[in-house]
Amino acid sequence: MRQVVYISTAAKIAESDLEDILQAAKDNNVDIGVTGILLFNGQNFLQVLEGSDEMLDALVDRIEVDPRHSGLVVMSDLDISERCFPDWSMQLVRLSSSVEQRKEELSAVLPASLDDTVRKQLLNYAALN
Ligand SMILES: Cc1cc2nc3c(=O)[nH]c(=O)nc-3n(C[C@H](O)[C@H](O)[C@H](O)COP(=O)(O)O)c2cc1C
Repeated sequence: MRQVVYISTAAKIAESDLEDILQAAKDNNVDIGVTGILLFNGQNFLQVLEGSDEMLDALVDRIEVDPRHSGLVVMSDLDISERCFPDWSMQLVRLSSSVEQRKEELSAVLPASLDDTVRKQLLNYAALN
């Protein structure tokens, strides 16, 4: 089992694009056994994807060329023994406009099993404007 974390910059997308992305992610990820979380702060995405090696390679390749974002950079790529987000085919977390509140909100949804470095990456991302 593998877990990949990446960040990217959103294109000029509408609310409906975000809903389309989430729906496609939910539908496809169930079929390919991928789980994870997608954070969006209005400008950047941070996504955690968990699944088998080959599924993740193919999925990241597909996501990378999606014109709704650009500049995808993988921040972490770990072997994991168990999923951190087993119940979420893809959970969207919209970060609120208040930077002060974001860390708190995100902390509340992150599981204890998350790798410490990954947790810090997510919380630091949440504090960015
Ligand atoms: C930020 C972002 C995250 C995405 N996450 C996923 C995902 O987790 N799973 C997925 O299948 N597609 C995801 N997509 C969409 C893919 O790039 C692609 O559009 C989709 O997989 C095509 O599915 P379809 O052929 O069923 O329309 C994401 C796109 C973006 C921009």
